[in-house]
Amino acid sequence: MTAYTRPQERPRRLRATPALRRLVAQTRLHPADLVLPVFVRDGIGEPQPIRSMPGVVQHTPTSLVRAAREARDAGVGGLMVFGVPRPEDKDATGRAGLSEDGVLNAALRTLREELGDTTVLMSDLCLDEFTDHGHCGVLDDAGGVDNDATLEVYAEMALAQARAGAHVVGPSGMMDGQVQVVREALDGAGRTDVAVLAYTAKYASACYGPFREAVASTLTGDRATYQQDPANRDESLRELRLDLQQGADMVMVKPALPYLDVLSDVAAAADVPVAAYQVSGEYAMIEAAASQGLLDRDRMVVETLTSIRRAGAQVVLTYYATEAARLLGG
Ligand code: PBG
Repeated sequence: MTAYTRPQERPRRLRATPALRRLVAQTRLHPADLVLPVFVRDGIGEPQPIRSMPGVVQHTPTSLVRAAREARDAGVGGLMVFGVPRPEDKDATGRAGLSEDGVLNAALRTLREELGDTTVLMSDLCLDEFTDHGHCGVLDDAGGVDNDATLEVYAEMALAQARAGAHVVGPSGMMDGQVQVVREALDGAGRTDVAVLAYTAKYASACYGPFREAVASTLTGDRATYQQDPANRDESLRELRLDLQQGADMVMVKPALPYLDVLSDVAAAADVPVAAYQVSGEYAMIEAAASQGLLDRDRMVVETLTSIRRAGAQVVLTYYATEAARLLGG
């Protein structure tokens, strides 16, 4: 042994005890950084389980308020609310997303009344839950998604959500110019107080599969003409530049784990808070593997969320939010 050079530096010294490791941990996960996405469905008497997302449900208005309180009391930073209308309320332009008493706006109103400013209420600003064809926008005569016609609907939807009580609106449809029209519509109505969380880098991902069940989506075909190609990295910096120019208050990368490189790029370039969304398929993968005893679920939850934070996300949207907050002792 003495013939060999001994290591001069010994990184293992700082790994020796749990207390040492805790002291030098560079990334900390805190419940306040987490946002819980929730689904509220019209016309149901009891919460409905979502087969592909064990443990996640479509809420009734009552169970939604309960879940929101639970999340808040566990220290979770906010909620992202998705509405699931009755099938007969879907139409070609998604009007059910605009009406005051539509499932999403009604739920936002109730949540704001019940929780006030004790949490951050975010609303999904997109048409796919409300259109009968399942696309995120309105269609043109050729059946393609009409960017600019869709923007006009988003503007109205933003106002409806602001009136209903959203603190933050989250345009997620990947239409060009969506942040600008939403900002202009809000400002024009005197709602300079409502923030915009831009879905800046949103990839056309297979990881949204379970979400389609969660919102009872009727989509046939795909979203490849508006969501980003998984092969592209620089394009996200272009989307970031545009969203910042258009007034985004926060920007988001989605999905999270398969796109940590993109998240890292965006975090390095952005001068606003960066969020990442651990989406339905990421949740389903962990649940599926854990249910077969293939890996340790709680460790996976904490490790994936920590990795997403380490890559640069300040805020993480995750279906595990409330549970993770408890795991973290929040
Ligand atoms: C669009 C939207 C989607 C998700 C969030 N907002 C679906 C899609 O783009 O196809 C997916 C979230 C998830 O998979 O958890 N309204």
